[in-house]
Amino acid sequence: MNDNKKAISTDSLLTENRTFPPSSEVKQRALINAEKYKEMYERSVNDSDGFWLEQASTMDWMKEPTVACKYTWDTQNRKIEHTWFEDGQLNISYNCLDRHLEGPLRNKPALVWQGEDDEETRTLTYAELHVEVCKFANVLKAKGIQKGDRVCIYMPMVLELPIAMLACARIGAIHSIVFGGFSADAIADRVNDSDCKLLITANVSLRAGKQIPLKEISDQALSHTPSIEKVLVVKRTDDPCEMLDGRDFWCHEEMEKVNAECPAEPMNAENPLFILYTSGSTGKPKGVVHTTGGYLLHVSLTHKYIFDIHDDDVYWCGADIGWVTGHSYIVYGPLANGSTSVIFEGVPTYPDAGRFWQIIQKYKVTVFYTAPTAIRALLRLGDEWPKKYDLSSLRILGTVGEPINPKAWMWYYKAIGQENCPIVDTWWQTETGGVLITPLPGAHTLKPGSASRPFFGVEPMILRDDYTVCNANEGGKLCIKKPWPGMMRTTWGDHDRFIDTYFSMFIDLYFTGDGCRQDSDGDYWLMGRVDDVVNVSGHRIGTAEVESALVSHDKVAEAAVAPMPHDVKGQALYAFVTLVEGVEEAKPLKKELILHVRKEIGPIAAPDKIQFAPALPKTRSGKIMRRILGKIAEDAIDQIGDTTTLAGPSVVDALVDGRKK
Ligand code: WTA
Repeated sequence: MNDNKKAISTDSLLTENRTFPPSSEVKQRALINAEKYKEMYERSVNDSDGFWLEQASTMDWMKEPTVACKYTWDTQNRKIEHTWFEDGQLNISYNCLDRHLEGPLRNKPALVWQGEDDEETRTLTYAELHVEVCKFANVLKAKGIQKGDRVCIYMPMVLELPIAMLACARIGAIHSIVFGGFSADAIADRVNDSDCKLLITANVSLRAGKQIPLKEISDQALSHTPSIEKVLVVKRTDDPCEMLDGRDFWCHEEMEKVNAECPAEPMNAENPLFILYTSGSTGKPKGVVHTTGGYLLHVSLTHKYIFDIHDDDVYWCGADIGWVTGHSYIVYGPLANGSTSVIFEGVPTYPDAGRFWQIIQKYKVTVFYTAPTAIRALLRLGDEWPKKYDLSSLRILGTVGEPINPKAWMWYYKAIGQENCPIVDTWWQTETGGVLITPLPGAHTLKPGSASRPFFGVEPMILRDDYTVCNANEGGKLCIKKPWPGMMRTTWGDHDRFIDTYFSMFIDLYFTGDGCRQDSDGDYWLMGRVDDVVNVSGHRIGTAEVESALVSHDKVAEAAVAPMPHDVKGQALYAFVTLVEGVEEAKPLKKELILHVRKEIGPIAAPDKIQFAPALPKTRSGKIMRRILGKIAEDAIDQIGDTTTLAGPSVVDALVDGRKK
């Protein structure tokens, strides 16, 4: 348990004190000002049911709900349950599409796709997207998919991805998207955990000019996934791929065989919408389960107010749909609000470091949402890149994924926003479904590095380990007191794991795994993870997962992975590896181990550094002292502190020496 204290210094040393109140222009346009925020926030916590039922009426229900939240959070009796709008019925694809078709939104661009090659673009209006989704839904039905079945999606960033998601939602199938950079083993684990019946993939995906053979990787996974009956393959390029007769089908051929009539299935508000796997502090990824009614309300309301969405906005979230940010803020939130959402297939630095800024100019993007890691990578490449493009369409900038350091914040504000655009630093998690802590552009004074205030209905608490509440500016553990609509309901197939992971550190409260402090004005400052999760470029990697991948290599006896600071990625992985007796500590082996992790989990989990360790520092009871490894990885040798509780203190000296090699 002591290990959990490692990321938090009790008195934060951050001295950032610049403030940026909303300009009169921003305030004038904003949907929510400071008074309105206060009034709505207070009502959202004091008359929660009244507030949320009223907000729920912004959605189209097939049967209106009469109750908002029902919940029991009782850790000791192992009863952690919450529902939202449990007697209501609706369909998400109907809310994202059909209800927009009667009025002026019908011919408005819903999704604007920009391929990696600038010439390749495709726009679908709401009416056109509706047709595609209905047809895709009919293809799924023709392949035997029914309400409640799980469908795995392993795809590049092409329009067929949101189409497939909405098609699943339309017929009540549960989608489970596996990020297109994951390996065959990662796909197989996820497919098997939730017994997916069908896989949707593409022949290849494109990344910075290279091709990734998605179908070939899928085929490796498919030899270990007995539940998959059929595979739909999107033709991204003309490159051939193997197709197994009777199992694999080309999507475009199947789409030709169906019509565009597909009524939206009435779903209970509490029916699952999707599963998304995320890393935790133990080895196996957790299937985070989100349901229908509360999730949609949460993502649409947050999208509308945080990005201050108006009808004429061109909104672009640069995340990948394979992560939760893409689910909530490329697809469901923006479409529920009738916005135009840009989807970009490529990466920020290809063909050059001006790519993001060129796209903003090309589509006159007004709201841009990205991650600190991308901002830091582009900052390093200099101001000349954004200067080449006209960024004057921008109104609001957003960030998500990890704490943004004030230097990156200021660059984003000046070089990209030209000091005219508020930055919304949005804090949330796969588990939370949508944003929980964030500024609202017209309501809050911004501070570089602070995520500002709780969104409506969210009651954060910052606690010490003894359950007492921290003082102002004292770092502690961030918990949430009560359920909010978009909160995860369970981990797929394992409710005990859900309780153990989130409700056992502090009984009867949701523990986020993050450290946080609140300053004396009431603003929240996130301080990173306090558990064994490393945030690499905004992607959560469980150290245990990487350790077990390393140990699965036949030359490795033991491994421990710690975070090390990294200029661009925020954190990178530093692996300490003890080899099997008799195996030589050779340099090529480091490369081999890195490749092995890439194969087992995917490139994002590859350690940046491997250090061979004759032994790992352990307590007398055999527990690896991660705190010490963390200090060595950080090169903060002077902070190693007391090593007397170690079984063999000399191990530490050997590791400190080994770091230099
Ligand atoms: C971190 C991404 C500081 C945090 C939506 C959280 C942040 C984890 C921020 C969730 C932020 C996300 N400031 N830290 N604005 N946003 N995080 O599940 O540690 O991929 O617990 O969800 O990212 O990552 P996940």
